[in-house]
Amino acid sequence: MRKKIVVGNWKMNKTVEEAVELSTAVAEHLGDGLVNCEVGIAPAFPALEAVGKVVEWSDIRLVAQNCHYEDDGAYTGEVSARMLESIGCTYVILGHSERRQLFGETSATVNLKVKKALGEGLRVIMCVGETLDEREKGITTEVVTGQVRSGLDGVSDLVSVVIAYEPVWAIGTGKTATPEQAEEMHATIRDTIREMYGDLPAEHLRIQYGGSVKPSNVAELFAKPNIDGGLIGGASLKADDFVAIVRAACC
Ligand code: PGA
Repeated sequence: MRKKIVVGNWKMNKTVEEAVELSTAVAEHLGDGLVNCEVGIAPAFPALEAVGKVVEWSDIRLVAQNCHYEDDGAYTGEVSARMLESIGCTYVILGHSERRQLFGETSATVNLKVKKALGEGLRVIMCVGETLDEREKGITTEVVTGQVRSGLDGVSDLVSVVIAYEPVWAIGTGKTATPEQAEEMHATIRDTIREMYGDLPAEHLRIQYGGSVKPSNVAELFAKPNIDGGLIGGASLKADDFVAIVRAACC
């Protein structure tokens, strides 16, 4: 059985002080003893180290929101995978739709980042998902499986990879995909992984759902057989909501 994974993506929110406060509240509620699920929080870069200190005594993973695909050099404003690894990050989120839409990330750069992060010993949460326009044109499967295939091009081992399916039209909009819509795409992603890597890696790969997950809709989503947790944006900014979502995954 796959262990569910729930990660709070805080995006560009919270000062260091606020991030310490929020992570302390989350850690106090969840603490250790997270046996049935894996939990992570992804603050913005300036707060990573301070939040890392808050969660280091707990089972909560420190997660970064992005990294560059080079080790170092003249890349103003960027952060490398080994920098993240050196401050205790376990995971890095790559290819989030906001990075793809607002910052020109392509599946080719996502692929370079995935390979670099894995090479540095980080685990990767690779995000995929279609826009509303793509869904209305009926090309959702093509877009999402294309992102999966190109993002993982040349990646031989999936042990340290999690995929997050996040329909772009459901992110931050309050519109959640129905559990059936999400399950359908998760099953399609797993089939694609089966074609690429075989049965065992496909059965072990965890596929998170992301897009307006909240305490009121999480149980139905997590009950679906191919939904292995969530990548939580807005609701992860409130300790009580995030903890409620984690508890739904842990049961
Ligand atoms: P949301 O964001 O939960 O606010 O929709 C999810 C995400 O972008 O990861």
